[in-house]
Amino acid sequence: MSETAKLALDGKQAEFGLRHGTIGPDVVDIASLYKDTGLFTYDPGFTSTASCESKITYIDGDEGVLLHRGYPIEQLAEKGDFLETCYLLLYGELPTTQEKEDFVYRVTRHTMVHEQMSRFYSGFRRDAHPMAVMVGSVGALSAFYHDSTDISDPHQRMVASIRMIAKMPTLAAMAYKYHIGQPFVYPRNDLSYAENFLHMCFAVPCEPYTANPVLAKAMERIFILHADHEQNASTSTVRLAGSSGANPFACIAAGVACLWGPAHGGANEAALNMLSEIGTADRIPEYIAKAKDKNDPFRLMGFGHRVYKNYDPRAKIMQETCHEVLNELGIKDDPTLEVAMELERIALHDDYFVEKKLYPNVDFYSGITLRALGFPVTMFTVLFAVARTVGWIAQWKEMIEDPQQRIGRPRQLYTGAERRDYIDMGSRG
Ligand code: CMC
Repeated sequence: MSETAKLALDGKQAEFGLRHGTIGPDVVDIASLYKDTGLFTYDPGFTSTASCESKITYIDGDEGVLLHRGYPIEQLAEKGDFLETCYLLLYGELPTTQEKEDFVYRVTRHTMVHEQMSRFYSGFRRDAHPMAVMVGSVGALSAFYHDSTDISDPHQRMVASIRMIAKMPTLAAMAYKYHIGQPFVYPRNDLSYAENFLHMCFAVPCEPYTANPVLAKAMERIFILHADHEQNASTSTVRLAGSSGANPFACIAAGVACLWGPAHGGANEAALNMLSEIGTADRIPEYIAKAKDKNDPFRLMGFGHRVYKNYDPRAKIMQETCHEVLNELGIKDDPTLEVAMELERIALHDDYFVEKKLYPNVDFYSGITLRALGFPVTMFTVLFAVARTVGWIAQWKEMIEDPQQRIGRPRQLYTGAERRDYIDMGSRG
């Protein structure tokens, strides 16, 4: 294959080199396009644009493959735990026993948040969406941890990274407790990451709480499955915010804000709401028809993905985990699960979904699982944010450490008014 791509325009030719990844499509390096031709590229939604070079996560959307630092998500979810995945994403290799112990020690020593943060929470309305509280409280971390905001210092960068991985579950559990009017529960460093999170969410000071090991394992899996996903919208937001040299905690708050949208992390909440609204399997055809109707904005939530044109590998694991949790809890006939399974079956055989390659994504089964674990729907995206924090941080760190790094500054195709002169108020039509 040729090592250059040629662009011919008005009899002139410009050549652009190809760059090869370890796996996946090559990219045409068009960094000099504007200088060489005076043209920009136009790619709304970045469907054909690699925004950066990265060594962290690889997705093959056609084959349904997801690798973190080369390791398949199925193996990480089955054999590893969340903090090991965090270490892998941050440092590039699986930890040795010693490295793992040291990492767990460092994370668990940062799980508490500044006591003043609790007063910050009381400024929110109790009925605020927990994601609204998260956007505010994660951003507020930037006002508390001044000794880890010099992004040019590798030690401070790592301290900020560890702090965020450690404190995110604490903030999320506080958002939940505040929402339901219960006292905040302090973290317990003798528990695993997932157990501690369940403890902070579901323990109350008046009686002991022990997390069910099957449910804790499911929580751990949900965290692993959501840990990173290449240059998705929230990760790209974090990278773009970070490219200006912004405070790391503020960059993560930007990621939380982006994740909230129903086309992204908000889909787990939207998917469960949709399944509840459908209610019974006999109403599925009505919703399938709505999803296909071009004049109806309705979409089947939890279906489709920008990159996966095959079964989302995370959805398969999520489906198994969902069954494990429902079995453990003795939930035999969950009507939402029945609707979900029937909807999945019908959609996988329907021409519209088959032709458009719309498969269930990770959010399709995560909602049912999270609800069975005891979380209200409004917390679903918060849990996604807890898990994705490590991905955001690893990608942010990689960007800051990249010697080629420059501020992200896309251009545009301007279609507004041409230059015109100011019209005095009295002369306007
Ligand atoms: N239901 C019905 N039709 C759909 C759906 C859906 N869920 N998703 C895509 N389509 C159709 C869409 O109407 C379009 O049809 P046409 O070509 O005739 O105009 C075609 O499929 C391509 O859709 P698109 O919107 O151009 O694709 P996209 O890559 O821009 O969007 C998506 C990807 C995930 C935003 C979209 O599939 C969607 O809105 N899904 C529902 C929301 C959801 O589950 N999001 C979670 C994604 S996974 C977790 C995460 O990223 O956070």
